[in-house]
Parts: sequence; C-alpha cells; structure tokens
Amino acid sequence: MKISLAPARPKNIPLIRLVEGGERASPYDLVIGNRREMTRRRLTVTIRKVIARAKELGLRKIAIRLNDFVFPHLAISRQDLAEHIAVNCLLANYEFVYYKTRPKEGWHTVQEAVVIEKGSDKEVKESIRRGIMIGNEINECRTLGNTRAADLTPARLAEAATQAALGTSITIEILGKKEMEKLMMGGVLAVAKGSVEEPRFIIMKYLGGGSEQPIVLIGKAVTFDSGGMNLKRDDYIAEMHLDMLGGAAVIHAIVLAAKMKLKKNIIALIPAVENMVSGASMHPGDIVRTMSGTTIEVLNTDAEGRIILADALTYAERFHPRLVIDVATLTSAAVVALGQMISALFTDDDDLAERILKLGQDSGDYFWRLPLWEEYRYLIKSDFADISANRARWGAAIAAALFLKTFVRKYPWAHLDIAPRIWTSEGECLAKGASGTPIRLLIRLLEQY
Ligand code: BES
Ligand code: ZN
Ligand code: ZN
Repeated sequence: MKISLAPARPKNIPLIRLVEGGERASPYDLVIGNRREMTRRRLTVTIRKVIARAKELGLRKIAIRLNDFVFPHLAISRQDLAEHIAVNCLLANYEFVYYKTRPKEGWHTVQEAVVIEKGSDKEVKESIRRGIMIGNEINECRTLGNTRAADLTPARLAEAATQAALGTSITIEILGKKEMEKLMMGGVLAVAKGSVEEPRFIIMKYLGGGSEQPIVLIGKAVTFDSGGMNLKRDDYIAEMHLDMLGGAAVIHAIVLAAKMKLKKNIIALIPAVENMVSGASMHPGDIVRTMSGTTIEVLNTDAEGRIILADALTYAERFHPRLVIDVATLTSAAVVALGQMISALFTDDDDLAERILKLGQDSGDYFWRLPLWEEYRYLIKSDFADISANRARWGAAIAAALFLKTFVRKYPWAHLDIAPRIWTSEGECLAKGASGTPIRLLIRLLEQY
C-alpha cells in the first residue's frame, strides 16, 4: 500500500471520517464514540478500523484527515501520530494470501491511503516515511511466521534472513551442524536431533555505532514445535510453525535498524531448529551438555526453546554486549497468565524494565513485568544434572525465565516471552496469524538505549 501526504483531498478519493455517533452522514464515516474518551490503545485499533472499513467497502484508495485523529485527552505529538497512522494502516491492510488463489477482482486490500494535512511539514512527512518502513518490516516478519513449517525450515529461514538483509550493510554468518559441533552447542544440537532438517545458527551484524559495545538480540526460531517425544496433543500443535516468531522479529528488527541507519552496533543471534519426533529424537530424561558447560536434564522435550536459547546466551558473551534481549514464544504459561493481548517481561534491571514497559505502551507491543525471583529456582532443580527443563505445574513462565537467567553472564539482560502474542487476537483488527510483535518496540529501544 502506498501512503502519501496531501494538503487537500484529491478528487475522486473518498474521505473516511471519524464521527462520534448520531451524525453519521456518509457510508464512509466511522463511528468511534465520545472523542473525549479516546485512549492510545483505542487509537491504535481505530486507525486499523479505517482500513477494515475501506476493505469492507471495496475501496482501493482512501483519504483520511490527520486532524481527525487528534483527541482532547490524548497527548501525542504530530510526528508520533503520523508514524502511528502509517504503521497501523499497513498492519491492518496486510493479508496473508500466499497459499490462496487470487480472486478475479484481485485481493481486497487498499492500494493507496492519502493523509490530508494542511501544513504537510517536513517532520510529519519524515514520520510517515518512518512508519512505512516499520510497518512493512513488521509485515515481512508476519509472512515468515505464517509460512508453513514444510516451506520454512531452519535452512530456509537462514536464506530468508540473508534475503531480508540484502542492500543493507548487515553481514551474515550461518553456522551449520558441523560448526555447532565444534563450538559444542549441545543444546541446539540436542533439540535438532529428531528432525531431518539440520539446525542453523544465524548471526547478523550491523555496525553503525563505531567502537561502542553492541546490543545483542536473540530470537527463538523453532520452525516447528511438535513437542518432541512429549508430543503436543490438541494444544495448538497445528499453529506451531509460528514458534520461530522470536527469531523472525529479531531478524527484521536488525534489518530495520540497518535500513534506518541507526548509529548503533547491533548483533542478532537466531538459533533455528525443528523440534520433531523420530528414532533419533531426544529421550525425555536425556542430559544435555550446553556450550557453557552447564548440564540440563530434559524432563520434557517440549521445553526446547530454553534449551536452544541457553547456547545463544553463552555465544553472546564473546561480543561483550552492553545489553542482551531475548525474544521467544517460550511458554503457554505466559498465555495463561496474561491472555492474548500482552506479553511477559522478565529482567532484574528496574530501569530497563520501566523503559520497556513505557515503550510497550507507545508502540503497541504491550508488556507486563513478571517476577524473576530466585526463590522460584526450586522449580528448575535437577537431581542428576545442573538444572532441569521440565513442566512446572505452577509459575512455568517464571521457571523458564529463571532457566535462561542461569546462562546469563556478564551483561544486562531482559527476556521477552511473546507467547501471548504469537497470533493476533479478536478485536485488534489484524489478519489472523502472526502478529509481528515486538519489532516496533525493539526499534525504539535500539534508538534510545
Ligand atoms: N512453543 C511452546 C510455547 C507456546 C505454546 C507458545 C503455545 C505459544 C502458544 C514451548 O516450546 C512449549 O511447548 N512450552 C511448554 C513448556 C513446558 C513443557 C515446560 C509449555 O509452555 O507448555
Ligand atoms: Zn515446546
Ligand atoms: Zn516452542
């Protein structure tokens, strides 16, 4: 979709207006209720509803007025608003049609949105441009997520990362099984054993920050999570091609940072595996030696995410990072705790937590902090190895976070469990499937940190 700025409504392009209620005058009006009650969360959905309305009406081109999105009790700068409009128009217009036959009349998406703004000043224009870059990158991430496991293996994901970085200054290194064996990445290798698809460890580097220490982003990329020998039953197994979304978000966050030419050093690490069942799979009870030397008793093979992340957290040490953030669809317990609208944040760093929570509110990639108390460590103790990967009955999202913390050395760290937002939910006006969280939050954090 093209998004442009104009000082007045171009002829023949219908204007979609936001109206409070009774005064709905044309089919293009969108009723939004009391303008005094607008909140940032509702604004996000309102922007998307404009696109939904346009699709419903079969409109290919629409116009909206920037001023229509200014509300008396909602503090937001014009620039921020312009970016927010661009991002959310793109997110709402996205449809995943790769596996569908194109209808005769074409896809029901909007081709052009004109934002009417009298002043059309440079800053607003720049914000729209930024919003377009962000929105498109998030949609690319959603497409990777929505692509089925048969078509997106660890090797294909590595190719996709290479493709995505084309034209930027990012350098990519892709480790295969042999290289991982040399590094003794026992966690990644153990999870990958059961699949005919070989694992990959993707390393992407964007160096725009001179001699500064880098920020490392780590993303879980399980291209299909069957659960392994602890096979998933009906608990959304058919959606487990989405279990690589942490990795996809990290890939597109670093690509976006490169396209935006941030003056930062950023490294992305993506352990990519398929968690399958076969004669070669891990057995429940196996003990795995990770790259760090710490051993894991795998009491449940469905806890594969933390096992591959362990090696990535250790690998990160070599970069002497000033911050490490991991992003993972890690636990169903996080979904139980928070529902489908907001993800879980774990960190010992209060300032960092505050910052992420704030950016979550601003970006729409919402986060809620959960405790990372050492008192919960009994949940992951093992009788036969250093720690265990098991199914904690209660507090399983916390147990997983503490498990990861075991491998964190010498750097500040936050863990983002995005399982709650693995797919979009009712009412948020986004196509079914991957949500593309938390790229928008990450880019803001990278800019500021
Ligand atoms: N990928 C899943 C977590 C998940 C489940 C994300 C549903 C989104 C929706 C993860 O690998 C997993 O299976 N976790 C287990 C952990 C348990 C075996 C310790 C879980 O949360 O049930
Ligand atoms: Zn699992
Ligand atoms: Zn998983």
